[in-house]
Amino acid sequence: MPLKVCVYGCGAREEAIRDIVSKSNLCEKIVSVPEDADLIIFGPEQPICDGLVDYYTQKGIRCIGVDKKFSQLESSKLFAKKFMVNHGIKCAKLLSLEADIYPQVVKADGLCKGKGVKVVYNSQEKDEFTRRIPAPYFIEEYLEGAEISVMSYFNGKKLINFCPARDFKRLTSDKKSPNTGGMGAYCPVDLNDIQKSRLDIYLKLLEKALVDEGAAFTGFIYSGLIWALDDWYVLEYNVRLGDPECQAILNYLDNDFLSILLEDEIPRYKKGYSACLTIASEGYPDNPIKGDEIILPDDDNSVKVYLAGVKSENGKLYSNGGRVLSLCKVAEEPFSALKDYAEKIVMKHKIFRKDITIF
Ligand code: AMP
Ligand code: GLY
Repeated sequence: MPLKVCVYGCGAREEAIRDIVSKSNLCEKIVSVPEDADLIIFGPEQPICDGLVDYYTQKGIRCIGVDKKFSQLESSKLFAKKFMVNHGIKCAKLLSLEADIYPQVVKADGLCKGKGVKVVYNSQEKDEFTRRIPAPYFIEEYLEGAEISVMSYFNGKKLINFCPARDFKRLTSDKKSPNTGGMGAYCPVDLNDIQKSRLDIYLKLLEKALVDEGAAFTGFIYSGLIWALDDWYVLEYNVRLGDPECQAILNYLDNDFLSILLEDEIPRYKKGYSACLTIASEGYPDNPIKGDEIILPDDDNSVKVYLAGVKSENGKLYSNGGRVLSLCKVAEEPFSALKDYAEKIVMKHKIFRKDITIF
């Protein structure tokens, strides 16, 4: 029987999930109140880490989301480190707090909205950063290489993996520009044969680790991986779909997302590449300017637009947050069309990355 589905959360990622789920034959309708739902799909990490999946599961509502125990994979980097070490999953080595080899990476332990990690290049940068973040923190070795995001769905017994994606976390092309929630993403990432086989090995290890630890939730696990020293190393776990990687993956799917979640279907994809470009507002990530009227061009309906930090008033749209819009398209070279579209958007303080491409 088709389900009433609630998608918990209110960013572009959740808009994309609502859009795709609403088109599924397995969905009767989208509801906005969790209590009215047969199925709740959780978007952001905060409600997951607060234990809302456990809460609604106990009330008898089916949930797609990691339970409180395993949400520590994201909410505690030390929990994640122990999980990886215990299960033979490769990750950066821990260094002592006083280590003076640079660069090195400082990581705060709790949820910090992307602001708890910094690569520091000298002791002065280290001191400044460690003074600002809430204790506790730890130091790990710096790894160099290309990063990918692999999102997986754990169905309670096994992992169903989506194709590798890549996000652009920095505000600009400058390596030292601030980390953001994500300025764009694309999928698939083309891997060579060795990278593919090492990725399969890693994903099997992750699946075995979850099964061996008795994980019983149905939810998403995001592995942030770096190709370093001829293998994949885990930089981070998230317990949700990445934003904006989710928008790129969902638009790329050629089969029904709910069939993957509820009927163990394996993801199938369209041809070419799927990309997502973030339109942010000047001042993001620290202090974005709000209140600009937004007018979208109406001459290219191949671009899908998801609203994130947007307020609607009297039929008009206004910017109302840091990341304002997600633009999505599937094509052989989707970024050039997305950038053309972005140029034509009217929004006084819009910013977006013009340099990002598929690589
Ligand atoms: P995280 O939130 O742990 O993924 O860290 C955010 C970003 O910091 C990552 O996407 C990397 O670009 C960088 N980073 C984190 N850990 C390391 C590391 N051990 N070596 C190099 N870069 C890292
Ligand atoms: N794009 C990375 C994240 O959602 O954390």
